[in-house]
Order: sequence, then structure tokens, then C-alpha cells
Amino acid sequence: MKTKVDSKKNSRDDSGFKPGPKSLEIFEEEQKYIAPGVQSIALFSKLVMERGEGCHFVDVDGNKYLDMYAGVGVASLGHGHPKYAKAISEQVSKINTGSFSSPRRAHYCKNLSKYTPGKLNRIQFYSGGAEAVEAAIRLAKSYTKNYEIVGFWGGFHGKTGTVMGLLDDFKIEMGPVMSGIHSVPYAYCYRCPFRMEHPSCGLYCVDFIRKQLKQESAGEIAAFLVEPIQGTNGNVVPPPDFLKAVKEVAKENNALLICDEMICGFGRTGKMFGVEHFDVMPDIMTVGKGIANGFPVACVISSDEIINAKPFANPSGSSSSYGGNALAGCACDVTLDTIIEENLVENSRKVGEYLLNEFKKLQEKYQFIGDVRGKGLMIGVEMVMDRKTKEHIRKDISRRLFDECMKRGMISMCYSHTIRVNPPLIITQKEAEEAIRIYDEAFGVISKEYGI
Ligand SMILES: Cc1ncc(COP(=O)(O)O)c(C=O)c1O
Repeated sequence: MKTKVDSKKNSRDDSGFKPGPKSLEIFEEEQKYIAPGVQSIALFSKLVMERGEGCHFVDVDGNKYLDMYAGVGVASLGHGHPKYAKAISEQVSKINTGSFSSPRRAHYCKNLSKYTPGKLNRIQFYSGGAEAVEAAIRLAKSYTKNYEIVGFWGGFHGKTGTVMGLLDDFKIEMGPVMSGIHSVPYAYCYRCPFRMEHPSCGLYCVDFIRKQLKQESAGEIAAFLVEPIQGTNGNVVPPPDFLKAVKEVAKENNALLICDEMICGFGRTGKMFGVEHFDVMPDIMTVGKGIANGFPVACVISSDEIINAKPFANPSGSSSSYGGNALAGCACDVTLDTIIEENLVENSRKVGEYLLNEFKKLQEKYQFIGDVRGKGLMIGVEMVMDRKTKEHIRKDISRRLFDECMKRGMISMCYSHTIRVNPPLIITQKEAEEAIRIYDEAFGVISKEYGI
């Protein structure tokens, strides 16, 4: 499929990328009524999407864009997948009520348990990621009868009450945050807060966590909540021994390990779940985004033993209004079936490896690329003003990069200091080559214009 952008409709002047006239008209009209604070990528692009075709978006002006972000890892099957569309439309014409079981949901629960790690064979459904994380915390509290939660610097788990205290920026002016929250360092080795290097550091950060909690905790930790690969923080991959060491600290504190696989689950990293890269067994997992290809559903997955803890396990104790309704169950079921049938976990590994290697080559060409990391189709390309000081790339420059990519018919999360590369899992080798060609051209423009 060839990416085609009508340069008359899409142009760039000094103020940046300009969407086509239809997009602009609808966008500006909606802006009068919709609340501010929608996702940056939508605000910066001002695009109005009409439909999608595989790994491409098509806007209302008929322009086509290669999708390198997939709604932040949501559109795992890409756009307009025929099998997905058929299943959803059939289900919606039958029934879509909540509470009751449904044939596809029942099939999904059993099928999923074939792929989940170890004893994690019980699942509950929610309407969004933050709600699932809150439920996972309720479950951990039910099981341990403790209340403290340990999260990690740079982590993101949604914007709801319990996890708010763990966020960097979003908690500003939102206090007081929940008590009993501890925030400890993540192994973000490119920016190690202790200025050490792995493996010679001997995972000093984990020793630090141990000491910090000894100092801070009331001795009632229910759970450690961690992303196996930090998505929002820039697709940060910890060293292979980090999560296992964190689990040890959790055990020492009689706490559970909740792995938030919202982005890195369901094939995105070239394995079915992110934890599989790190030889660690979570007690609870939270999953969402790519599990239903855009239908709003997220889940908590745990073992028989843990998920039976009360009050979580009391009738209506773990449920919600829309969680696991017939449509959600169907969306999950058809998405998992398609991921397996189309071998998308392997595609993610293969195309991801190609992209990672190409970004590493681009790192040799462009000084402003400070770090390239990733697993499968979850890649982070961190940009700096100076490789020595690691000062983040200036916002106006990364914003320009976003415009340059858009102008060339590609949508990518490259407007902050780290490019988050998360295309749909169906991306082909050819499309990946096209993406690299566009990144290279756009990198060339900012490198030349800003002398970086
Ligand atoms: C790892 C992780 N957990 C939880 C969430 C929250 O999900 P939602 O936006 O569906 O509430 C996100 C959202 O980006 C996420 O990346």
C-alpha cells in the first residue's frame, strides 16, 4: 500500500504542518465544544480521520498516513480489519448487554489461559486501563490485607485516584494524593539516577529500593506496581535482571507483584507478554489497549488463589457496568484469535528487530539520537541536544520533527524527547522500510536546520 499525501491539501508553512481543509473545518468547530486536554497527537495534527486501511489512516480530505503509533498501542490489528469488523457487527446486531456471560467471552477466557504465564488463568473485565489497575490494587489489598502501594519513577497507570500519587506531572494541583504510596527508581539505565552502569552497578537501584522502603514503609505493602517496559516514559526497557530482583523485594515485604502490561502485552514486544523477556512471574497482570483493537476494554488477570480473595471476590465485588459485556468479550475474542492466526507475535518480533537495527544505524548518522532501545514493536528513540550532557531535545525541534513526518505522510509520536514507535502489529516489512525512509528524511531536516 502506497502512502499518498496530497501536497496541495497538506502543506507546511512557517507555522508548521497544515491539515487539509475538511479536517481543519471539523477540527476547529469541535474545538469550541470539546474540553481542552485531548491527546497531544490529535491536537498537533488537527486531523479528522475518516477510516483506516491496515497500517494506514485516511483523513476526511482523502490523505493517507502510515500509522506508527496505533492509538498508543491500541490498534494491534490495524484499521478496518475485515475479520474484526465482521465479528463486531454480528455481535452488536445480536446483543450487547452487561453482566451475563456470552459465548464469545466464555471462549475467550478459556483460550486466553493457554497463553498467560504460569498460574494466571483467571480474568476480570473493565472498561479502561486505569479502572483495571485500580481493580488490581483492590485485589492485592483483598489478598494481602495490606494497603501500601509501591510504584516506579516514570511509570504510568492512568489518571485515577489511587495511582495519581505515582505520576510525575499529572498529580500537580490534584492533591492530596492517596496515603501509603511510595515511588521508587526504575532501571532507566540511559539516565541512571545513580550515574552507574549496568551490569557493574550490581542493580544498585534495587538495593536502594529496599533501603527506601525500610525507611518509608509502615510495613504494610500490598503490591509493587510496575510496567515490564515503561511505555509513557519512552519505551524504556530495563535490564534483564531488574524485574526478578524487584519481585524478590516484593516477596521480602510479603507484597504482590502487579505487572501492568497495558501496552507491552498481547504480542507488542515480540512475545505474548512483556514479562516473558524477563523471566519473572507476576502475581497479577493488567492488560488493555491492544487486547481488543480499539474496543474499550481492559482486564485483570491472576491466579485461582489470589483472585478468590474477598472482598474482591464477593458477588459484584470485582465487576463493573460495561466490563465484559457481550461486545467487549467478542472484541477480545476476535482480536486474540486474529493475533494467533496471523502470527502477529512473530511479526512483531521480526519487523521490530528490523526497525530497531535501522534506528541504530540512524543513531550513527545523527548525533541527536542519544539512545535506541526496544523489544518487538515497542521501540524508544531518545533525542538529545548533546550526547554528553544528555540534555533533552528542545520541544520546538521535536515538534518540527512531528510536522516533517506528517508532511511526508506518517503519524508518529515524535513530538517529545523520545520517539515512541508502536505501529499496529500487522505492519509489513515494506511499510517498516517506508517508515525508516521517512524518519531518515525528517531527521535530516532537523539535523540540518537546527545544527544538531
Ligand atoms: C501502562 C499503562 N497502564 C494504564 C494506562 C491507563 O489506561 P487508560 O488510558 O485506558 O485508562 C495506560 C495508558 O496509557 C498505560 O500506558
